[in-house]
Amino acid sequence: MKQTTINGNRPIAVVTGAAGGIGSAVASEFHKGGYSLALLDLDLAKLEEVSETLNADGLECVAVECDVSDANNVEQAYRQVAKRLGSAQVLVNNAGITRDDLLFRMSEDEWDKVINVHLRGTFLVTRAFQRGMVSQRNGRIINISSVAALGNRGQVNYSAAKAGINGFTKTASIELGPFGITVNSIAPGFIVSDMTRASAARVGLSFEQYSDQVIESIAVRRAGTPEDVAAVARFLASEEAGYVSGQVVYVAGGPTV
Ligand code: NAI
Repeated sequence: MKQTTINGNRPIAVVTGAAGGIGSAVASEFHKGGYSLALLDLDLAKLEEVSETLNADGLECVAVECDVSDANNVEQAYRQVAKRLGSAQVLVNNAGITRDDLLFRMSEDEWDKVINVHLRGTFLVTRAFQRGMVSQRNGRIINISSVAALGNRGQVNYSAAKAGINGFTKTASIELGPFGITVNSIAPGFIVSDMTRASAARVGLSFEQYSDQVIESIAVRRAGTPEDVAAVARFLASEEAGYVSGQVVYVAGGPTV
């Protein structure tokens, strides 16, 4: 797969939530593809572990502590990345949290936190990093959504945030397309990670029991892996994917709509 390069330099990919399951797999996939990386996460200790592994062969990998829902944090992270690496060609908005509860019990705090990290975070980080992409007339923005955007009991906050990300993706693709920038969402289904391990614990099941139940409704009869998501991110970031924009790509082992 051809990468989007500027003047033959190694391209730069920014991944938020890069200390987590999907984010670290996405980072690793881009690393294998020869990208320099800027990894953003709230959890600096975990992030540094990820970046140390990736830095082992001397390819550049910068770890930046950043709360994506905080405008000042995001602006500082943008400046730090621009200074250390230059303008990013690829941005993967992946940072996320869950605060599940049924609507009638959901607190304002649970609502606000989830909307802020996913939706406000995607807005703030995209607004910051698109500047360099617009100047270089080249960019790939990939927003991690979810099949939960189509509705999922106990996740009215998360579902609304992810549906919002899909709308954001379509409008951003219209505005940024003329500058050579594509914007797409990936909507994963059931992926093995700390997030789904926490979901199992919340309903009082072991991960194996929970996983067995969910897998029955998945066409390919297996749970997804972070690498399944990373492979699609890598394709959407490639030069060959230049005519795919404003789409929601399901990585869910079968039909969802
Ligand atoms: P994870 O919990 O392993 O990773 C999430 C990462 O985001 C963590 O490293 C966390 O520290 C970071 N984070 C949380 N709040 C942040 C903030 N305010 N600023 C910066 N970083 C922050 O979860 P996972 O599964 O890797 O999720 C990644 C993305 O994939 C999320 O957006 C999630 O909603 C989405 N997703 C996950 C699915 C799954 O089955 N695991 C399914 C569909 C979507």
